[in-house]
Amino acid sequence: MHFPAFDDFYQRILFLLPFAANLRSNEFDYKTPESWQVKYPQCGGPDQSPIAISRRKVIPINLHPLLFGLYDEPFDDLVTVRNTGHTVDFMVPATIYGVKPFVTGGLLRDCYEAEEVHFHWGSSGKKGSEHVINGRRHDLEMHIVHRNNKYLTLKEALNYSDGVTVLAVLFKVVRAGPMFYQPGLNEVFNSLLHLSDFNSSYTVPERFTLGSLLGNLDRGNFYTYKGSLTTPPCSPVVQWHVFAEVLRISDKELPKFFQLHDKWGNKLLKNFRPLQSQENRLIFHRQPFIPLQQEPLQELIWL
Ligand SMILES: *[C@@H]1O[C@H](CO)[C@@H](O)[C@H](O)[C@H]1NC(C)=O
Ligand SMILES: *[C@@H]1O[C@H](CO)[C@@H](O)[C@H](O)[C@H]1NC(C)=O
Ligand SMILES: [Zn+2]
Repeated sequence: MHFPAFDDFYQRILFLLPFAANLRSNEFDYKTPESWQVKYPQCGGPDQSPIAISRRKVIPINLHPLLFGLYDEPFDDLVTVRNTGHTVDFMVPATIYGVKPFVTGGLLRDCYEAEEVHFHWGSSGKKGSEHVINGRRHDLEMHIVHRNNKYLTLKEALNYSDGVTVLAVLFKVVRAGPMFYQPGLNEVFNSLLHLSDFNSSYTVPERFTLGSLLGNLDRGNFYTYKGSLTTPPCSPVVQWHVFAEVLRISDKELPKFFQLHDKWGNKLLKNFRPLQSQENRLIFHRQPFIPLQQEPLQELIWL
């Protein structure tokens, strides 16, 4: 007997098998980001990141600065950097005051504790920042992910529209430049040499501060908009802060990212999500040099 419908059915099953295996093992890849939404519907939903930010489209805003709490205090523990197969990341330890660094101020109504730091990059032939500023993609982008501290875990925070804020710092490589004084960043870059294999980890022997990852960044000059995680589950719960200043790193550092491997033993390259539509979202630009109408200092000293 021959049932064409059955053949068709089995053909479909066979076709879908690799994909189904993919679904089971909680995987995603950067080759087919348009299919993330099959398993993670929010990836196909509104308010997605990253986006292109253009000077001509942003709205200047007279805003309090971001307040960086404990950002410049040393961690009370060593940092362990890990190759997750999608990026390199580390969990942010508490500072010597027993509390993690946090941000508030700007458009934020609550206090957001730093949870995790990771990076996005390209390849030797392609720049790999996620956000594009004034038409320009840069070499590297760092994300410092913060959880609204009214939620207990990052996972819980992903369920709420005010759950997360991310600070994004873009980097560009300068050739034969001076040695930059970026102690925390250099520790992380050097740890990459130990993280070639998937799921390997390396404990940085020096203590550093979260703020030292920002070098001499102008912390007062940023774009802010409402978006999402740029990896599955793409939860649309992120108040983004993308700093306007692009930090410089030496050309010795970037290639350290290019020798990492994913779980299939392939080079871990180009781990940036394609640009998403801005839709009707507003992007604000905090202008650092416009004097505020009312003196904000009294309010800010509550810390
Ligand atoms: C997030 O929300 C979903 C459904 O609304 C719920 O099942 C889940 O338990 C929540 N997760 C956390 C960690 O609160
Ligand atoms: C990653 O390494 C940890 C221990 O370092 C181990 O417990 C875990 O099973 C590993 N995960 C995978 C997917 O290999
Ligand atoms: Zn990221």
